[in-house]
Amino acid sequence: MAETGLIHHDDIVDDGKRDFIFLAAGAAGALGAASIVWPLLAQMGKAADTLALGSIDIDVGKIGEGEQLKVLWRGAPVFVRHRTAAEIAEAEDVNIDILPDPATDDSRLVPGPDGNLKPQYLVMVGVCTHFGCVPVGEAGDYDGWYCPCHGSHYDTSGRIRKGPAPRNLVVPPYAYTSDTVIKVG
Ligand code: FES
Repeated sequence: MAETGLIHHDDIVDDGKRDFIFLAAGAAGALGAASIVWPLLAQMGKAADTLALGSIDIDVGKIGEGEQLKVLWRGAPVFVRHRTAAEIAEAEDVNIDILPDPATDDSRLVPGPDGNLKPQYLVMVGVCTHFGCVPVGEAGDYDGWYCPCHGSHYDTSGRIRKGPAPRNLVVPPYAYTSDTVIKVG
């Protein structure tokens, strides 16, 4: 477990589906020195919700290609996915004019310290924009995320492609504080 608010790969809990559950209450805010890993369902409790305030630092450099973290931030899951080259290519090879919520893949990324985008890292709030379920990763007709509640399909950029959800998965405010660390919030 991390000794500071920085999230490390060692804090990851593998749920056995390559879709890691990792909830961190460590933050740059009130808790400061603590980060806590809990099962996903713990986020529903008041204690978890209260603890997950402020901003969180995530060491994205420790996320393996094709892996995803789920991080609790302000009471909501945030997905941090290290996309494969194929996922990036799929996200970029889209005519955005046909999308329900048009957005380029680049517009859903932020630059690193050198000013260049890091398309391998995709950061999104993991809440379906229909009625708020948590979508499943590496699923659906577009190889991205699938919301089983009412059947919304998101692509490898987290854009809604099919189903009742009206909007793309939301990109939270975040920035790179180093080449491999992001601060969410
Ligand atoms: S809540 Fe996701 S499709 Fe309805």
